Amino acid sequence: MSLKYAALIAATVFAAPAFAEGDAAKGEKTFKKCKSCHMIKNGDDIIVKGGKTGPNLYGVIGRTAGTVEGYKYGKSIVDAGEQGLVWDAESVAAFTADPKGYLKEVLDDSKAKSKMSFRLKKGAEDVVAYLESVVE
Ligand code: HEC
Repeated sequence: MSLKYAALIAATVFAAPAFAEGDAAKGEKTFKKCKSCHMIKNGDDIIVKGGKTGPNLYGVIGRTAGTVEGYKYGKSIVDAGEQGLVWDAESVAAFTADPKGYLKEVLDDSKAKSKMSFRLKKGAEDVVAYLESVVE
């Protein structure tokens, strides 16, 4: 099955109308909601000490979905990555707003699942700006 680009675009437009440039300082605060499950670390350099429930988010923007080595992802997100999903501002915003719904859309599979049980209501563009700002 190939990625359904129309569905991908539809999901993006639905989840993030009027996508705006984010504010990294605000995003650093918003990231407090993420760090119970996600750390940000570049090798041994720990930028944000966080949980291990989710994968390391260092350099996630521009990375293929489901590819942090040693992290045990669910099948759907790995499939999405194998079919070409590379995280960018829009896709991270759409995914964090509704992880399972987003994977259902991009895989065109009503049975798709996500291990991420959290939904971010607002501020995704700021978190993305923050995630980009910490990468050297
Ligand atoms: C309750 C725990 C939890 C919280 C809170 C959480 N996540 Fe996640 N996140 C996960 C898990 C678990 C996965 C792996 C999903 C899978 O394998 O299906 C994930 C995956 C991701 C991915 C995909 C990464 C990759 O390597 O493909 C991104 C991006 C992401 N989360 C961003 C965020 C952001 C941004 C926040 C805060 C706004 C956040 N998450 C909050 C648990 C969480």
